Amino acid sequence: MCLPDGNVQTLSSPDGNLEMTFSLYEDGTPTYALRYKETEVVATSVLGYELRGRASAKSPQTYMKVVYDTLDFHSGFSVKDVQRSSFDSTWEPVWGEESQIRNHYNELALTLEKDGIDMVLRFRLFDDGLGFRYEFPQQTNLRYFTVLDEMTEFRMTGDHKAWWLAGDYDTQEYNYGESRLSQVRELLPETLVDGASQHVVAPTAVQTSLQMKTDGGLYVNIHEAALVDYPAMTLILNDEYFSFKADLTPDAVGFRGRLCAPCTSPWRTVMVVDDARKVLASRLILNLNEPCALEDVSWIRPVKYMGVWWEMITGMTAYACGGNKGHGAESGNVRRYIDFAAEHGFDAVLVEGWNEGWRDWFGKQKDEVFDFVTPSPDFDIEGLNEYAHSKGIRLMMHHETSSSVVNYERCIDDAFELMKKYGYDAVKTGYVGNIIPYGEHHFGQFMVNHYNRVLKKAARHKIMVNGHEAVHPTGLCRTWPHLICNESALGMEFRSKMQPHHVTILPFTRLQGGPMDFTPGIFEMDMSRLRPSSRQQIHSTLCKQLALYVTQASPLQMAGDLPENYLKHMNAFQFIKDVALDWQRSVYLAAEPGDYVVTARQAKGSGDWFIGGVTDENAREMTVSLDFLEPDRKYTAKIYADAPDADGAGNTYETGSESCSKYVITEMKVTSRTKLKLRMAPSGGFAISIK
Ligand code: NOJ
Ligand code: CA
Repeated sequence: MCLPDGNVQTLSSPDGNLEMTFSLYEDGTPTYALRYKETEVVATSVLGYELRGRASAKSPQTYMKVVYDTLDFHSGFSVKDVQRSSFDSTWEPVWGEESQIRNHYNELALTLEKDGIDMVLRFRLFDDGLGFRYEFPQQTNLRYFTVLDEMTEFRMTGDHKAWWLAGDYDTQEYNYGESRLSQVRELLPETLVDGASQHVVAPTAVQTSLQMKTDGGLYVNIHEAALVDYPAMTLILNDEYFSFKADLTPDAVGFRGRLCAPCTSPWRTVMVVDDARKVLASRLILNLNEPCALEDVSWIRPVKYMGVWWEMITGMTAYACGGNKGHGAESGNVRRYIDFAAEHGFDAVLVEGWNEGWRDWFGKQKDEVFDFVTPSPDFDIEGLNEYAHSKGIRLMMHHETSSSVVNYERCIDDAFELMKKYGYDAVKTGYVGNIIPYGEHHFGQFMVNHYNRVLKKAARHKIMVNGHEAVHPTGLCRTWPHLICNESALGMEFRSKMQPHHVTILPFTRLQGGPMDFTPGIFEMDMSRLRPSSRQQIHSTLCKQLALYVTQASPLQMAGDLPENYLKHMNAFQFIKDVALDWQRSVYLAAEPGDYVVTARQAKGSGDWFIGGVTDENAREMTVSLDFLEPDRKYTAKIYADAPDADGAGNTYETGSESCSKYVITEMKVTSRTKLKLRMAPSGGFAISIK
């Protein structure tokens, strides 16, 4: 039972379709609920915390009272103040899926009070979803405090279909489960993939962004935005009632956050839309982040790059110098990549294994592995940078931290200075293995603060950052646009372990928080051609690999494969050379999570259009209407399509089979009235450039 009057507040979205209700129970428990038109989407759900706190020294009595006790901060509240406002403005991202983003919401801010301590609950309701967060204003009765538990619930109203990742405090590198909520428990173990640092949260825990679909056809997505100075959230599912509870990543001694007022939690988000394409078009997460914090953004640029990388990932050469395999980063080999990248119009070449430390690290938890400034003796750092610059290429720095974060922070100033000395302007960071300090997790507050500290330092040096194995992105690239990419999901490096439906889910989930360094563009799917002992095959057609440059927008895109594999398919490689990295406009033509995604995007500057389509293990026919083109204009379209006998799903796989790589390229004149009929092979796709 709720208390009457001021204790029940409603808030509508600007278009009136969504309605949020805040209510305070008789015992002072704050709750919220969310409806879409006539449908209940989030049933009444509890808000609040269990804290352990202490007041400032100015009020010793309160200090005594709370310092030793757990503070129930989820009941016993009264509403002290209610504020309402509206916001509508348009902003321009430095890069992204379109050149202008509208930020339009209605806001309700409630100040709740308990035992002389204030907490603000701020709700923002957009046409495509809800954001809310907790705020602890500056006050005498609360200063430093610890979070024992965040009580936030998301009570679903049925056994929805869901696309989920197993909840883990250290990795997102798992396959997606695709099931009813009631099946998560049973299927979760099958989705796990071996990795260097893993900590599964619970038998029914799932990560955000979590995509769901109701039987009534609503797409519901739960995530968080603007994760700063706070642990990342996973969700624990109660699979009897289909309700989720927030679970914050604990620190080394088990606390779930150490806060100091004034402070805020990240935004908790619930997107609700009636069409899957609207999930892809939603900018809810970006809009809930702070505007760009950088005054000068002229040094931030999109990067198309190759890497001395796939040959190590596939085991052809080694990261370390001096072993029994060739060393990938050896100067002559690096020059070969620079030549190829320069000839084909790339911006950068990543070189991994360039530094000392790789020989005695993998699998061991060592504190001091890398110093980030000592090149391997066969890597001529000065000569290679000069050579690259003379050809219009930048080398991309690699900082594998070995997850010894204390060591990286000790070395980082010297590391960035070395980069500036030789002209590097982008770094790929990595966090393989368990975190040092021991007991911390990749997604805990300590690490969240570390990733953000690296961003701030990098900004001072005008260095762009591509973070691997970091926490799930929450839209911080709006505030820090030099965070041009993250990994934070299973990418192409997992080769045959990746399932055909993976890339039909990523745009709904992982990519909601920011772009992914997915490293597409693998042309040779048969790994036995790279290493005869391998029996692995990647489950994708070549055209599906091309399509990913469009369906997974990112200002940083790699052509992941080896130069020699591109040389075999120069006609298809042309698409990777042509495709843009930064977009004026995006049109989501067709989408269903777990099944297919078809996206068209118009390049900033040239105005050229690119279309990508991907499917899961099922072949599909798609009719693509080009009605987004300007009327009364003629364009030339180049279509890269799976050949009729192509198969990316491994149905016809045997060593030496070419079925993944079969494609047909056609050119034709098109207008806004053209409708293209396209067939995608099992785990196939298509790519189109329109000039
Ligand atoms: C994992 C990264 O995802 C991969 O790209 C990198 O090559 C290795 N770590 C080594 O740092
Ligand atoms: Ca499917």
